Amino acid sequence: CDFAQKAKVAADRGAKAVIVYNNADGPLNGTLGDPSKATIPTAGVTKQVGESLAGRAGTEVTLDIQARLKDITTRNVVAQTRTGRPDNVVMAGAHLDSVPAGPGINDDGTGSAGLLATALKMGGSPQVRNAVRFAFWGAEESGLVGSTKWVRSQSFEQQLDIALYLNFDMIGSPNAGYFAYDGDDSDHQGAGPGPQGSAQIEKDFVDAMAAQGVQVEGTDFDGRSDYGEFIAVGIPAGGLFTGAEGVKTAEQVAKWGGTAGQAYDPNYHQPGDTLANVDRVALGRNVRALASVIDGYSQSTEAVNG
Ligand code: PHE
Ligand code: ZN
Ligand code: ZN
Ligand code: ZN
Repeated sequence: CDFAQKAKVAADRGAKAVIVYNNADGPLNGTLGDPSKATIPTAGVTKQVGESLAGRAGTEVTLDIQARLKDITTRNVVAQTRTGRPDNVVMAGAHLDSVPAGPGINDDGTGSAGLLATALKMGGSPQVRNAVRFAFWGAEESGLVGSTKWVRSQSFEQQLDIALYLNFDMIGSPNAGYFAYDGDDSDHQGAGPGPQGSAQIEKDFVDAMAAQGVQVEGTDFDGRSDYGEFIAVGIPAGGLFTGAEGVKTAEQVAKWGGTAGQAYDPNYHQPGDTLANVDRVALGRNVRALASVIDGYSQSTEAVNG
């Protein structure tokens, strides 16, 4: 197919992003921010394979005449307990996909594995008051596509049946920080507070980590992962995070150990995001905390939902 043609069609259909692939050298690591704003000539290469195209919307992007737009099918996997109130569902999610550049074991094999282990431990018919629904999202890295489509596929009634949503994206970073999404925007000058109840979720994660002797900090609750569409429709949300490209400070090293002046995950979106580069101590702590918070909400969401 002709890339320029495809990009125009995608823009006409209102696409926010298109993924660009290069036949000869495998996938380009990146997306065009908005094809309707990008200039797409038909020949010449100015971008290297692997170079990020993100954030370049509105600037001229020149692509190899061989470049191709590839349509692929991805899936969300969603599973719910048979037991518990189906009109007050406790929902938790992680994403299955990675960026083309790397295997994505910390981002987000860790969240997926932690949730899967928790789901298997609970089984299909646990003794819970509220149903628990696990979501394994596709296409997070292409712009939160799987989770956004899923939330929008739900009727208003179905959205109201979701008591809260918990997100786990990167919970075993090799130079780990210990963060909970800042639901009340108290710790940051972030995007403002989340839906009512999000502050309580943050507190419950803080307590679950404190029970293991770990002091948690708040982190931006700005929609940079699959919880974005949940908070956009007003569902209380929260989650844990051990850090991506951000750099660890000396104060944080004093609390948590690790290396100051280095990224929490130096392999973020790189080929080195492998099983060898997961901090299993951090992963263990985060999975214990997520399991205990899910367990608590499966019995009651009163504190969150009032
Ligand atoms: N969603 C980002 C990614 O997958 C990682 C991230 C998670 C960033 C949580 C900030 C907060 O690349
Ligand atoms: Zn990622
Ligand atoms: Zn991720
Ligand atoms: Zn906070």
